[in-house]
Amino acid sequence: MGLFSSPAMKRLAWLTDIHLNFLEGTACSRFLDEVAREQPDGILISGDLAEGHTIETCLRMVAQRLTCPVYFVLGNHDFYFSNFRDVHRTVRNLCHAQSNLHWLNDGGIIPLTGNTALVGHDGWADGRFGDFFNSDVDMTDYFLIEDLARIDSHSRFEKLNRLGDEAAAFVDRLLPEALRQYERVILVTHVPPFREACRYDGEICDDNYLPHFACRALGESLTNIMQEFPAGHLTVLCGHTHGRAVVEIASNLVVKTGAAEYGAPAIQEILTV
Ligand SMILES: [Fe+2]
Ligand SMILES: [Fe+2]
Repeated sequence: MGLFSSPAMKRLAWLTDIHLNFLEGTACSRFLDEVAREQPDGILISGDLAEGHTIETCLRMVAQRLTCPVYFVLGNHDFYFSNFRDVHRTVRNLCHAQSNLHWLNDGGIIPLTGNTALVGHDGWADGRFGDFFNSDVDMTDYFLIEDLARIDSHSRFEKLNRLGDEAAAFVDRLLPEALRQYERVILVTHVPPFREACRYDGEICDDNYLPHFACRALGESLTNIMQEFPAGHLTVLCGHTHGRAVVEIASNLVVKTGAAEYGAPAIQEILTV
């Protein structure tokens, strides 16, 4: 299966918003070789790898160049020029064919070491932070993702709410179980689940941007669950805003948002667990 089996310490390379479709020539393979040179035991990718019509090619290249287990979630860009159903089907088929490739939505609770587990879900900006109906931010999502295009803003708001609720339901189902078994859990998701972790140029996004850049439903679930597990510890790894943030939401809940630049993918961090 390509899953971890040993309880020993692991080194994990965290990548986010690598947008491999923007790389030309050999730049993609050069970046993946740079990641491979770190000799990580596993790779964590918090979404926005490519676009709907390039996700299969890009994921296959990632799986072939990086021979260790690759755990990923999908970001909004990964659905551009396509729709949720087709991308989900493509990604599932590819994960069946590539034994080291693991989409975390389908992954359950993944043991990393004896005391640390991994869970993850794509997540989505659910429109609930900030002022959705007065926002003038026209996300490309609302043109290029079939499910979100050509609908009025009330229908779109409901769809975004539902996508946020799916992420929240996922952690409600898996995270308590993970925290009963492991002291530490890493949650990988694309969209920051808290306002404070949603930054641009160092500043917290304003009410115009927040509806499209944070997932309130997921954050509320995480806060509630971590209150029930004061001795546990959760680290959330996310991206989407392309602006770095490290925020301690509670003493047992830290959120890291990765910095990213189109055309210049980078390793965010090598985590030792
Ligand atoms: Fe991105
Ligand atoms: Fe994104």
